[in-house]
Amino acid sequence: MRLMMLGCPGAGKGTQAQFIARDNHIPQISTGEMLRQAVALGSPLGLKAKTIMEEGKLVPDDLIIDLVKVRIAEPDCKAGFILDGFPRTLPQAQALIDAEISLDVVLELSLDDEEIVRRMSGRIVHAASGRVYHREFNPPKVPMQDDITGEPLIQREDDKEATVRKRIEVYHAQTKPLIDFYRHFPKDARVPAPQFCRISGLGSVEEVAARIHQSLQKLGF
Ligand code: AP5
Repeated sequence: MRLMMLGCPGAGKGTQAQFIARDNHIPQISTGEMLRQAVALGSPLGLKAKTIMEEGKLVPDDLIIDLVKVRIAEPDCKAGFILDGFPRTLPQAQALIDAEISLDVVLELSLDDEEIVRRMSGRIVHAASGRVYHREFNPPKVPMQDDITGEPLIQREDDKEATVRKRIEVYHAQTKPLIDFYRHFPKDARVPAPQFCRISGLGSVEEVAARIHQSLQKLGF
């Protein structure tokens, strides 16, 4: 299965992608995570991305497109993958088509802006793996410790309220148009149209996971 998760920052894409990846034995490709690793390493990409991410803006399309193309060409993506956070602009979606990379399903997780701010202010992450928790809604077994490694959890730099609001604004301006793009996929595209599926992100992590599971089953996955 080649799945793309679409939705506002904090809608729960990363949380749910972890479950889908585990259940289907396919990798989760999170561009946000790849960029955070690059920032932590201080690589040339990381140096370019750091300030842009801290300001809640999107990194330039050309940087991210090449990163994803290289990642998708790796052997573990042969049986499928989950794109988490990519594409998030129309040029990025077009670049996938131009590279003849097809998607089976585009899954939109929808959630209103205020609930998003509430969720992001409580988010804590394991920096090395990208595992995501929430202080209240999805807590680790031991407070502020990763369930698998026991290492400390941190708050993301871009989860401050002002930056979160900027990211939501950027989502509405640059990423939301992708909903219409995938719903009315160009008929003359070089790849077949993916199936489009909209899921409410409201409710507990388990409730949303069950909703996604049912929808994917209905689509034949
Ligand atoms: P990225 O890391 O992709 O961030 P995002 O899209 O803003 O998404 P998030 O990771 O913030 O949210 P999510 O939907 O995954 O929610 P989560 O599951 O964590 O990108 C970061 C930055 O990198 C961008 O701002 C940009 O600068 C750059 N970037 C990345 N990709 C790019 C691209 N393609 N082009 C250009 N720039 C790019 O959940 C949020 C919280 O809610 C967690 O604490 C979680 O535990 C909790 N939660 C989840 N589900 C529930 C639930 N059902 N109930 C209660 N709490 C829940």
